[in-house]
Amino acid sequence: MAEKNIGVGLLGLGVVAGQVAKVLIGKQAKLSTEAGANLVLRKIKCLPQDLDRPVAKELPKELLTTDEEEFFNDKSIDIVVEAIGGEHPAFEYHKRALSSGRHIVTSNKEVIAKHGIELLTLAQKNNVSVNYEASVGGGIPLIAPFKYDLVANELQGIYAIINGTTNYILTRMGREGLDFASVLKNAQELGYAEANPVNDIEGIDATYKLAILATLGFKARVRPEDIHHEGISRIRSQDFKYAHELGLTIKLLAIAKQNNGTVETRVHPVLIPADSFLGKVDGVYNAILVQGDLVGNVIFFGQGAGAKPTSSAVVSDIVDVARKMASGNKSTYQWKLNPAIKLKPIADIQTRYYIRLTVNDQPKVLSQISQVFGDNGISISSVIQKETDDTARTTEIVIMTHSAREKAMQQTLTELSQLDVVGEISNFIRVEDIKQ
Ligand code: HSE
Repeated sequence: MAEKNIGVGLLGLGVVAGQVAKVLIGKQAKLSTEAGANLVLRKIKCLPQDLDRPVAKELPKELLTTDEEEFFNDKSIDIVVEAIGGEHPAFEYHKRALSSGRHIVTSNKEVIAKHGIELLTLAQKNNVSVNYEASVGGGIPLIAPFKYDLVANELQGIYAIINGTTNYILTRMGREGLDFASVLKNAQELGYAEANPVNDIEGIDATYKLAILATLGFKARVRPEDIHHEGISRIRSQDFKYAHELGLTIKLLAIAKQNNGTVETRVHPVLIPADSFLGKVDGVYNAILVQGDLVGNVIFFGQGAGAKPTSSAVVSDIVDVARKMASGNKSTYQWKLNPAIKLKPIADIQTRYYIRLTVNDQPKVLSQISQVFGDNGISISSVIQKETDDTARTTEIVIMTHSAREKAMQQTLTELSQLDVVGEISNFIRVEDIKQ
């Protein structure tokens, strides 16, 4: 066993933190050998209610404290692991740890996406580091490849399924023809979705993760609020029916693309080929397709959430920090930003579209609709008409377009909604063509 002791302090005792504590204790010898130092879990700062949880009973009592001061005043803690999630008080804890010369290891995507620059700068000032491998894609190695292994590339695209909850819901809707609300309820019962699932289903969780990947990958400061996001709650089982007919499926994708110094970032449902790699990623799994000028397409696939996969990334970060401390390596990785890189507004993106409309079943309806598309310079590639309601004399049509500018598409939707023959614009989904 190596001589030098390196102390770890854990903030939180939730699902991930509890697992991290168990791994640090259970694999202490192996991890210490890897680190080249004696890695010791010194303290866990939790909430009073955590003390009643089963995991608290499995851990040595003397490690647990509910006192923040006792935690931060413990001079034997060199690495602070924050696994409480959410912006506050996690952000304040990060600043306190860094200012007192402790390294940070975290799974907190929100804090890193919103405050990464400030925290990394503070870390550099204090000769310590901020490590966040677990913040995107749970156990899937992503941050390290972005920082190191892909650095020779100019990245061109990131296409990512990075929210397991929404992927689980869409998979079951697509496979079983179920509606959104019933699958969501089931996902909550199974513990996949949060009791308040807004961040997952509205795409907010994915924007935090994409903000981190796009900032690292494209050297542009992409903040969560810069990313256009839409969730999956408006997807209906009919949309899957039409998608399948077209050989497509629906996924919530986080997309970032770079072209001539301009970066576009967006999170929304997309139609993609059902037999493509991303089209076949089912259930709670995550997959991230990265395109580089040298490497071509690289795909990262695995479990993007859950206690064990996430603890894999957190503990590996801890060992990495300890290894650097043991060898006297003081390097701190900063986000290298290029101020010349511009962000593209959503209105300027170019893609194909699927539009599902309920219209009157009468002559000249299609000609009026196609007139609106034509007037806005959008070319229709196909029209499907299927379900007719004889009593209401309405019918449902699906229009697929050729590539068009978002601004023109939004104007088209506004004008369509003003036509007397259009009862409702039932859905509108972008079609993503991913270079294979
Ligand atoms: N809520 C996230 C998901 C968990 O469903 O993927 C990990 O960030």
